[in-house]
Amino acid sequence: MNYDQTLEKLTIILSDQYSEAELMLKAEMAMKINNIKKERNAVILGHNYMEPALFHTVPDFTGDSLGLSRNAAETDKDVIVFCGVEFMAETAKILSPEKTVLVPSNKAGCSLASSITAADVRKLKSQFPGVPVVTYINTYADVKAETDICCTSGNAKEVVESLNSDAVIFLPDEYLAGNVAKETGKHIIFPSKNKVNNNDLDVQMIGWHGKCEVHDQFSVEDIENVRASHPDVFVLAHPECKPEVVDASDFSGSTTEIIHYIKNNNLQKYLLLTECAMGDNIQAENPNREMLRLCAVRCPYMNQIQLKDIYDALKLNQYEITIPEEIRLKAYKSVERMLQIG
Ligand code: 13P
Ligand code: SF4
Repeated sequence: MNYDQTLEKLTIILSDQYSEAELMLKAEMAMKINNIKKERNAVILGHNYMEPALFHTVPDFTGDSLGLSRNAAETDKDVIVFCGVEFMAETAKILSPEKTVLVPSNKAGCSLASSITAADVRKLKSQFPGVPVVTYINTYADVKAETDICCTSGNAKEVVESLNSDAVIFLPDEYLAGNVAKETGKHIIFPSKNKVNNNDLDVQMIGWHGKCEVHDQFSVEDIENVRASHPDVFVLAHPECKPEVVDASDFSGSTTEIIHYIKNNNLQKYLLLTECAMGDNIQAENPNREMLRLCAVRCPYMNQIQLKDIYDALKLNQYEITIPEEIRLKAYKSVERMLQIG
């Protein structure tokens, strides 16, 4: 897109939030990013939670954790700028070690990724010897390195089923684990919260107490209140929400699956139980449909990345992801095994 096309797009989707002068500055910044991107032979990946001015202008690819991991693995560019949080950029580096991988903020953490350490995983493995470990992609490389296979919100059930194992350790998201346990008919326990006794040794899923601080905020009561005033609303929830919230919803899936569902099913009135910038992005592409909002629930880590940060990342080569090769090789096996599942 050239400057005029970019400004026109930004005006259509954001003129109620920004002045004309502010939109012009954003369009100029998008042009500067496109120029430096070419100079550095870079690709820009944008997670679905990026704010609308960024999401709709500079990324070469947008998507969920699974889709962007695949884009990172397939690119022939020298530099990958990952507009998402640090664990996502790390996954790109795990898959493409020869590339320079940049995350445009050094404050883009994640409450799930910081909920568990490699030592925690080793302890669980010694408590439950021989039980395969499935780790959500929202973890750091040293945790992935202790893992048999990774999963994302888009393939968690398939990954667990692919193991053909009666028992599985599923880390670190308590709610995603609860949702997958329900889908796969497994009984779940949490040794990090409850004492494990002998009767528990035949459990089928062993979970951890990690939570996404964004999705943890949604409740069944929220859904009931909205349904009371809008009986025709369709409710979509990310599987990082509590199992009872997912049960009370009409559809649950990864961020990209939610976007596709709204588009392909021509939903006219819907409630999203996920990060709010994604709501803005969906609304921009589907302006004639009615999106109901509970409140503005923004991920504070995703929110660290704005257009200017991408320019600075490419200009100053910051913040570069590095992973010790020994850890990367082990983590690669678990990510690659997931990608083989399809
Ligand atoms: P997706 O893989 O569904 O994009 O989710 C990533 C994430 O961090 C959700 O909070
Ligand atoms: Fe982590 Fe939740 Fe933010 Fe996703 S929305 S990056 S899981 S804190």
